[in-house]
Amino acid sequence: MDWGMKNRLSRMIKPSTGRSVMLAADHGYFMGPTRKLENPRKMLEPLLPFADTVAVTRGILRTSIDPEWDTPILLRVSGGTSILKDDLSDEEITTSMTDAVRLNVSAVALSIFVGTNHEKQSLVNLSRLVNEGEEFGMPVMAITAVGKELKKRDAKYLALSCRLAAEIGAHIVKTYYCDNFRKVVDGSPVPLVVAGGPKLDTELDVLNLVYNALQEGAIGVDMGRNIWQNDYPVAMIKAIRAIVHEKATVKEAMQVYTDNKGRATEQVAIHRS
Ligand code: 5RP
Repeated sequence: MDWGMKNRLSRMIKPSTGRSVMLAADHGYFMGPTRKLENPRKMLEPLLPFADTVAVTRGILRTSIDPEWDTPILLRVSGGTSILKDDLSDEEITTSMTDAVRLNVSAVALSIFVGTNHEKQSLVNLSRLVNEGEEFGMPVMAITAVGKELKKRDAKYLALSCRLAAEIGAHIVKTYYCDNFRKVVDGSPVPLVVAGGPKLDTELDVLNLVYNALQEGAIGVDMGRNIWQNDYPVAMIKAIRAIVHEKATVKEAMQVYTDNKGRATEQVAIHRS
C-alpha cells in the first residue's frame, strides 16, 4: 500500500488501537432531513471532538463543517435515489475523485447492493472507484447496503457482500452486525466496521451491539442514528469510544454514558478553545 493511502487510513483507524469510531451522518443523501439531523451543523459540532472520522456528503461538508476541524472525513460519493422509491439500489457515483481530493478527505464511501436489480451497476461503480482510489492514494469504503430490506442482515448474505467488496478492492467495508458475525469477519480479508441501523430500544442494546461486534472481529463502528438520535449523543459516543478504544465492558461503558449525560455544551467549549 502506498504512503498516501496508508497515511489516510491511519488518520481514520487509530494506530494506537487499530480501531475506529466513525460517526455516520450521510443519511440525508437519500433520507432528507432525518430526525435529529435536520440541522447537521448543530448535531455534528458537539460530536466531532469524539469521532475518529465523520461520514458526510460534500454538500454537508461544505455547508456544515468548518474547514478548521481536524476530524478526518469519509466522503459519501454514491447516490441518485430517495426514500420515496421502493428500490433504493439504483445508485451511481455522484462525486468525482477530483472533488474528493480537493476536499482533502481521508476516504470515499459508496453503497453496494448485492442481490438486487442493480447489483452489477453498484459493483462496477465500486470497481471504478477503487481504480481511481488506487491512482490518487484514496481509500475506498464499500457499504453493504440493504435498502429497506432490513431482514437481509444475516451472516450468509453479509459474508457474501463483504467478500465481493473486498475482492473488487475495497480497503474497508461497512456492514451490519448479525448473529454469527464471526462468519462475516472470517470471510473478509479487509477490516470491517458496523453500522447501527435504525434506533434501537435502549442504550444497553446499542452498547451490546458494539461490544459483540468488536469481540467478534469488527475494528470499530460507523454509526449514526443510535448516536445522534439518542437524548444524550455526546454521552453515547463517549460510551462507544470506551468499548472501542479502551476495551470497556458493556457495564463500564454504560457507566460512562450515565456519567456524561448532559455535558455536551461544556465539552464542545473545551475542545474549541
Ligand atoms: C446511510 C448509511 C449510514 O452511514 C449507515 O447506515 C450508518 O448509519 P446508521 O448507524 O444510522 O445505520 O450508509 O446510507
